[in-house]
Amino acid sequence: MQTFEVEEAPLFELVPAMRAHFRTALAGKILAVESDKGGLGKTTIAVELAYNLDAVLVDADWHDGNAARSLGWRHETRAQSPMLRAIEGGFVPRPISGGTMRPDLVAAGPELEHNQPPASVMADALTAWAASYGRPIVVDTHPGGGEAANGAAEAAHAVVTPVPLRQKELDALAGWVRLMAGYPLIVVPNMVPRVPPAGQLDYLEKIAKEHDLPVTSPVPHAVAIERRRARTAVSSMSLWGEGKIGPRYEPFIRAMLAVTTEVADRVG
Ligand SMILES: Nc1ncnc2c1ncn2[C@@H]1O[C@H](COP(=O)(O)OP(=O)(O)O)[C@@H](O)[C@H]1O
Ligand SMILES: [Mg+2]
Repeated sequence: MQTFEVEEAPLFELVPAMRAHFRTALAGKILAVESDKGGLGKTTIAVELAYNLDAVLVDADWHDGNAARSLGWRHETRAQSPMLRAIEGGFVPRPISGGTMRPDLVAAGPELEHNQPPASVMADALTAWAASYGRPIVVDTHPGGGEAANGAAEAAHAVVTPVPLRQKELDALAGWVRLMAGYPLIVVPNMVPRVPPAGQLDYLEKIAKEHDLPVTSPVPHAVAIERRRARTAVSSMSLWGEGKIGPRYEPFIRAMLAVTTEVADRVG
């Protein structure tokens, strides 16, 4: 696997180079982004991971806060769920092209909630799609599991779980890790304040040690991410060119690039 200077290199060179590399280096690999709770950063991380790897983003969440909607996809304009249509028809869905600013997308839409394919069917479909695309797939999921999310975990080479460094979320992580024993979990500390709370860091370390869990570098809390309205991948701002991004976004982008390379190293 190629290495990248994620802390140093100019972003407008780094991001396209990483996308070109990982698109083929991780061909056929499946990453599922999952957790038992909402609001931890799954969708944010799934979109950035998919973009940075030039993976196909399969959005297996039906909620309107999902990745597809955050990228501008509107289910109201579709007669049927593209994901379910492909699974029911036994064909490989053609992703909607994200162009240079978004990951390519296969969306499920609200129909998925009450029409979830059995986990084994979902897993087989994702495996077949990844092989057919000859690219990686990143699956975003609805919090708390369900058949679609379980199928994604079944097929996944890594199950990426974001966790804010807060007491309640870490308590929940301990339970989640027990539930997911046997799956290739990778924990991503997310929304980490500039001065990380020492007690919570120790707690995360303890959970990670106890369960032999890989933990990536942290993703900082970035107020600009919360407020951002643009329906594009944050990393795509790199294409604007040198010196155009600014301190509100750059640490987040570089942290997500570091997470991307660390996750890629685990599954590559
Ligand atoms: N690193 C971060 N810094 C600041 N806000 C974040 C960060 N990660 C996620 N968020 C915000 O937190 C909220 C929940 O994130 P989201 O990705 O939708 O979580 P989930 O998919 O787990 O429900 C969103 O408003 C999102 O913009
Ligand atoms: Mg989400």
